[in-house]
Amino acid sequence: MENKRARLAVLISGGGTNLQALIDAVKTGILSADIVYVVSSRRDAYGLERAAKEGIETFVFKAKKYPSPQEAEHDLLARLQERKIDFVALAGYLKLVPLTVIRAFRNRVVNIHPARLPEYGGKGMYGHHVHEAVIAAGDTESGPTVHLVDEVYDHGKVLEHASVPVLPDDTPDTLAARILVQEHRLYPRVLQKLIKGEYSLG
Ligand code: GRF
Repeated sequence: MENKRARLAVLISGGGTNLQALIDAVKTGILSADIVYVVSSRRDAYGLERAAKEGIETFVFKAKKYPSPQEAEHDLLARLQERKIDFVALAGYLKLVPLTVIRAFRNRVVNIHPARLPEYGGKGMYGHHVHEAVIAAGDTESGPTVHLVDEVYDHGKVLEHASVPVLPDDTPDTLAARILVQEHRLYPRVLQKLIKGEYSLG
């Protein structure tokens, strides 16, 4: 990965503010990679418009539209391979990544989660549920975690965590907004380090 620019696919399901942060980071040179493919699990995800505005190729991936789960998995994998994707970044992607993709891209699929892992991960821990749990626990610190994606949900190796204070009068919304700002800072930097081979992945 040292001489050629990495090719990234970003998987989204929603607004895509993290996708935007990655697009912006490419422009400013914080992230020396090219985002060449944006895959959304939802046709109405605003992130698709962000991608289209940048001229990035998009694809709506709905596993249920295929005759079988196997065909869905293989189509997604083939699409990533045809585009010579090096790394896959999940940015608010709410579906499980097919196992064939995880296995073909071992240590090259990453996700950003809006709280500490493993404490605030697992089934049902997404969106406002995460921040509600952090506030209910009385924690004074939270913040985003970037981790590798493996076969187990929210389980892969943690690459970085950024600390964000939880304030006494926080609601899930105010806490989410404070954390999101840090997500946008953290994610491009971690991806850059991963691409440059700066993590020891064993
Ligand atoms: C972020 O909070 C991220 O941590 C989580 O999903 C949210 C996506 O937001 N995985 P956006 O679509 O990037 O705005």
